[in-house]
Amino acid sequence: STGLITLDDGYVNTGSTKSSVTFLDGEKGILRYRGYPVEKLAESCDFIEVAYLLIYGELPSEDQLARFRLKLRRHTMLHEDMRLFYDGFPRDAHPMAILSSVVGALSTFYQDSLDPHDKAQVDESVLRLLAKLPTIAAFAYKKSIGQPFVYPRNDLTYCENFLQMMFSVPTEPYEIDPDFVEALNLLLIVHADHEQNCSTSTVRMVGSSNANLFASISAGISALWGPLHGGANEACVAMLEQIRKDGGNVKKYVDMAKDKSSSFRLMGFGHRVYKNFDPRATIIRASCEKLLKKRSIDDPIFDIAQQLQEVALNDEYFIERKLYPNVDFYSGVIYRAIGIPVQMFTVLFAIGRLPGWLAHWREMHESPTKKICRPRQIYVGSTEREFVPLEKR
Ligand code: SDX
Repeated sequence: STGLITLDDGYVNTGSTKSSVTFLDGEKGILRYRGYPVEKLAESCDFIEVAYLLIYGELPSEDQLARFRLKLRRHTMLHEDMRLFYDGFPRDAHPMAILSSVVGALSTFYQDSLDPHDKAQVDESVLRLLAKLPTIAAFAYKKSIGQPFVYPRNDLTYCENFLQMMFSVPTEPYEIDPDFVEALNLLLIVHADHEQNCSTSTVRMVGSSNANLFASISAGISALWGPLHGGANEACVAMLEQIRKDGGNVKKYVDMAKDKSSSFRLMGFGHRVYKNFDPRATIIRASCEKLLKKRSIDDPIFDIAQQLQEVALNDEYFIERKLYPNVDFYSGVIYRAIGIPVQMFTVLFAIGRLPGWLAHWREMHESPTKKICRPRQIYVGSTEREFVPLEKR
């Protein structure tokens, strides 16, 4: 029967689970982290404050936040031997491949803190991942452009530190741009969690076998890389660039996306759950307009994105299927304005999503009824058959 089989830990055979991390209403376009509307968090918080909320369940007091930041600062550097990994990657290695490899390899450096049932070890690994992911990411970028790695600076905020590791060079002072820091902080917050999406479910699935946290997050990074998931922000900007080069004819691409004989889809459009506006797209679009206006940046692909939205949202095919811009539709325009190269866009998504992955992994391990995740199937193959020896086939 294809009836729902409810397993002890709340998993049903549709792969659903119980969680208190994030609430999402796809019909109404509502997104809340631990009960707080994402709009409020995006306009009022700093990313590390939101990371604390997702991971530990409450907004931190000033003292708790100060102590959390201090602990993070102890872990921003990589073990010097980890730098040798980068020598082995080809110069044009995709940074998501580097990210998942180096994160997985963290488990070889911290073999004394891999036990998923030891709270102190898990807390230490949470701090190490949150603190090191920006460093691992920035080192991957520097490797790709042949510039020296820039060490983290603990006198800076999380976003300031990432930007200086990405863009500063030994030959001249680097000035941190507060507008870019503000835009990056907002982007990381709106990417921070999204209930049981593909990569978060992957982190839960891998973690459910009691694999260590580094291995689980490395698997989540690989799942996020896919162009139907986190890789869509990179694919979306490539699509907008293509439309620009093709004379800005958005109608042609909207028609292509409707044509079932072509595999072309509007990247950054549609969603498995949202059948209304993705609230994150609304937030990001506003932040985009604010940044481009404030810095008098005229990016033609932002105009193309807005025209594309206009045409698609007035087209029967998209209206009927309730297809709206999602989180990936405008994010790339901001990354470009900040100077982030397109191959790093999904890496930024991973840095943003890390607190959500960590929160879900911890929640799963704290569940008293946790079991290994083992979805069932509906068998549609052959019934039993007589074996035919090789010489008779
Ligand atoms: C993320 O799950 C999450 O929460 C993910 C995420 C997160 O924060 O973790 O929100 C991040 O992954 C956002 C999605 C990023 N991906 C893209 O932007 C890629 C482009 N979008 C699509 O490929 C698509 O919309 C998916 C993959 C997101 C969802 O695909 P589904 O499940 O097939 O979408 P659906 O069932 O709602 O589709 C209904 C119809 C289908 O056509 P019909 O069979 O009814 O004729 O809409 C069509 C689809 O073919 N369709 C599209 C389309 N998206 C869906 N047609 C053209 N262009 C699109 N973008």
